[in-house]
Amino acid sequence: MDRSKLESYSGREQASVKHHLLESYFKRLIMITAQGRYNRIAYVDAFAGPWQSSRDDLSDTSFARAVEVMESCRAELERVFRRSVSFRALFVERNPTSYARLQTFAQQRSTTQLQITAINEDFAESAESVAAWIRDEEMAFVLVDPTGWKDVVFPATLAPLLRKPNVEMLINFMWNFISLAAGHANQLKNLQSTFGDEYQSIVKDGAKSGLLMPTYLRRLRETAGRTNSRSRLRAAYFPVEFPNKKRVYYYLTYVTHHYKGMIVFLEESEKAFKYQDEVKFIVKQQRREVASGMTDIFGDDLGDQTDEKFRPMTDARSLWLEALPKAGAELLVDEEKIANMAEKGNCLISSLQDALRDLISDRTMQNLSSAKLRPKNVVDFKKGETIRRFV
Ligand SMILES: C[S@@+](CC[C@H](N)C(=O)[O-])C[C@H]1O[C@@H](n2cnc3c(N)ncnc32)[C@H](O)[C@@H]1O
Repeated sequence: MDRSKLESYSGREQASVKHHLLESYFKRLIMITAQGRYNRIAYVDAFAGPWQSSRDDLSDTSFARAVEVMESCRAELERVFRRSVSFRALFVERNPTSYARLQTFAQQRSTTQLQITAINEDFAESAESVAAWIRDEEMAFVLVDPTGWKDVVFPATLAPLLRKPNVEMLINFMWNFISLAAGHANQLKNLQSTFGDEYQSIVKDGAKSGLLMPTYLRRLRETAGRTNSRSRLRAAYFPVEFPNKKRVYYYLTYVTHHYKGMIVFLEESEKAFKYQDEVKFIVKQQRREVASGMTDIFGDDLGDQTDEKFRPMTDARSLWLEALPKAGAELLVDEEKIANMAEKGNCLISSLQDALRDLISDRTMQNLSSAKLRPKNVVDFKKGETIRRFV
């Protein structure tokens, strides 16, 4: 990685990981949905800023990065696919000083093909009107990136958006603050609004993200309703770590109503893990250089170490054994099935593929659709392949 990319993120490198995932996912969402049924795309930055930007042109902010994505996708859709797609963006900011800069940016960058509106409001009070701003015939993506967590990430606050089937969201869930709040009695009401009435029983042995994050995702799904339908809300999360520590700073929580959205988010999460490892590696190098007063002769290339760091968030092997509960069981694994399994286990698709490779290698299972054991795409879920359990 070219370390100059990180210059404007100095001291807040975690924001570069957040922007990387936002940009890469949003781009794919637009290119997929705008080649399908949608002629209109809407983007909402519910906590727009600018905040801690170090650039006069604000190019290191989430809203500027999203505008760039929309502009380049619009041009590509027209040039390559002869698709005329129109875009709208809504930026919400509560702070009047930040709003003034945001409004100037919106006026300067707004065009007939990308109409940008900035409003000076409190999102906690405006969620309903923001949801109403999104039209039914639009595909909408909403970024919820607050500085704190109270009120704003409560499922009840987000409900009007969660219930719209054409809305996807990326919610910055401030784990660092929430885990600190967990020990304080005066925060109980806020924590219950986030995790539900069962909060206290979940944390009796300590506030663990492995228990609390699935609870938060479940509450988001329940709030959206239709939990048993195919178009139910699906949810996953990506852990953004402190740039200089092996500890989670926040979870980027993703929600969609479509299994394809889940697959694309997980694919982009794989890449974001690599990106995060590279960012952390550079931050470490820079600290070492400052301490020693010398530039590292090996440069900023992480080389092959990255892959070792991919870790399943749950035991992917047990997900397969659960999906095929006894000898003789068969399962057609398609996109929807793999998305459901990954969502259930909060894991990456590569973890499911790795676990299946082990299960086929030790002759517990077999891919009936492929005589050869492929190294990566062990089950080709895009095509649909049948897995059988032997023992
Ligand atoms: C973390 S910053 C956003 C950073 C931005 N998404 C980025 O990545 O460049 C959060 C912003 O939300 C604003 N804010 C805080 N509470 C708000 C609220 N209730 N409604 C709207 N904006 C709010 C803050 O003033 C701040 O500018």
